[in-house]
Order: sequence, then structure tokens, then C-alpha cells
Amino acid sequence: MTHGSSTPGRQALGKIDTTVPHSARIWNYWMGGKDNYEVDRVAGDQYREVAPTIAVMARASRAYLIRTVTHVAGEAGIRQFLDIGTGLPTYDNTHQVAQRIAPEARIVYVDNDPLVLRHAQALLTSTPEGVTDYIDADLHDPDKILQAASEKLDFSRPVALMLMGILGHIQDYDEARAIVRTLQEALPSGSYFVHYDSTDTDQSLKQAQQGYDDTGAVPYVLRSPEQLARFYDGLELIEPGIVSCPLWRPEPADAPVEKTDVYGGVARKR
Ligand SMILES: C[S@@+](CC[C@H](N)C(=O)[O-])C[C@H]1O[C@@H](n2cnc3c(N)ncnc32)[C@H](O)[C@@H]1O
Repeated sequence: MTHGSSTPGRQALGKIDTTVPHSARIWNYWMGGKDNYEVDRVAGDQYREVAPTIAVMARASRAYLIRTVTHVAGEAGIRQFLDIGTGLPTYDNTHQVAQRIAPEARIVYVDNDPLVLRHAQALLTSTPEGVTDYIDADLHDPDKILQAASEKLDFSRPVALMLMGILGHIQDYDEARAIVRTLQEALPSGSYFVHYDSTDTDQSLKQAQQGYDDTGAVPYVLRSPEQLARFYDGLELIEPGIVSCPLWRPEPADAPVEKTDVYGGVARKR
């Protein structure tokens, strides 16, 4: 495990703030997990009262992660994954999906939440042939992430960069685009970019998000699908492009597939 500042256990536990809701913990709550606190459940319930679709969105985003990683590890043949904004371990985490297809896959997780750090051990259950590692770092500092990740990933070979539900936490749009560009520039040709974010396409979601941001939690900016599309500039989008996540290559068994306000896509670096 590669750390920015601390190790899991008591030290990390000391940094856990249970007075304001946290993105990773609320997301865990909406996905049906147990790793959350009262403050997260209260904020999560308030959000859901205003925007009842949020829990459906959280679960749809996990199903999308499973389908995209399956594609990238399977058909696209990628063996290295850099998953920034990992979240709390839940079902079918990136390494489990990727290593089911390719046991030799190498996965580096990155998050800046102390509770995610504390639970990181659960993410480090690699196959013997592969690798999983965890970096305690902030997406605002992509160079630090790239440097630490290069201890486990070979950046002369294709890597799948995953930014799943995290870019909304970078409040300034130009900064978010610059961070994405820095990360994408470090990848060799044949690499993949896998992403989703919640969008500003529903009024109740916008209202619920405002209430959440007012709790003192790290805010999350809802952007338009057009703004999200700029994160893919210069890359080759694979079919069906940037769409509402449930519409991204649904499994035949997924029918009926309904649109939600979380959009993403998969793109290849030429
Ligand atoms: C909405 S959750 C998504 C979790 C997971 N990627 C998924 O799709 O289920 C966003 C995650 O990004 C992390 N995060 C937010 N801001 C971050 C930052 N500046 N640097 C690193 N991680 C961050 C949060 O701690 C949280 O785990």
C-alpha cells in the first residue's frame, strides 16, 4: 500500500469526521452498504426525499462499472487499471471484475477519504498473479498520483484510467479538465478512459444536491452531458458514446433499461 500520509487503523480512524456527510459513505449507504454514519444516513435520506431516483442512480453506476470494466479487461485486453475515487469496498469492485477476466490484471486504487483508507485492506485481495494497491491521495494533485501509481503500473503499456463519480467533486470546471488532461497525457496510445458523473438533467436532483452541498460536505457539481463530453476531448469514443449509464451496452437480461441522470462513456487513446 502506498500512502500519502498515514497507515490504516487507529491513525486513520482518528481523522474520520462524523460531523459532516462524506461522499464515499453516502454513496455506500445508497448502494445498500453498512459503512456509513448517522450523519450520512440523515443526509442520504434527505437527498432521497427530494430526488428519489438517487439510490437507483447509485446502483446503476455500479452496474455500469461492472459492464465497462468487463469490456475493457475483456474485449479491449487492458491489464492495468488506475481507479481514482474508488469509494468504499462494495460488491464487484474494479479488481474483482478485472481479475475474473484476467487474473494477472494490476489495479491501483486512489481515494482521499480516511474511511476508504481504513477499509482499503478489503480492496487488496488480489489474485496471486495480479496486483492491487491503494494510494491515499487527492485528485487535485494528479502528478503525485501518477508518480505513486508508476511504482505498480507500467506507463509504457496501456492503462485504463477510471474516474467514476469523482469529477463533480472538482468544483472548478477548467481545473477538472486540466486534471483529466494531465492524467490522460501520461497514458500511452491504446489506453482507455472510463468515466461517469451525475448530470444537471433533472430539477429534483439539482435541488437535492443544493441541500447536500449546504451540509458542509465537499460539494459535488452537477454538469451537463455536453460539459462531461469535453473530458473526452482528443480520444476516440467507443459505441454508444457518452450516454445515460444504463444505456451503455446493457446486458440483454437488464431489460427494461431506463435512463437515469448519470452519464458516462468509454474512450480509447489513439
Ligand atoms: C460518488 S463516490 C464514487 C465511488 C466509486 N468510484 C463508485 O463509482 O462507486 C466518489 C468518491 O470519490 C472520492 N473523492 C472525492 N473527492 C476526491 C479527491 N479530491 N481526491 C480523491 N478522491 C476523492 C470520495 O472519497 C468517494 O470515494
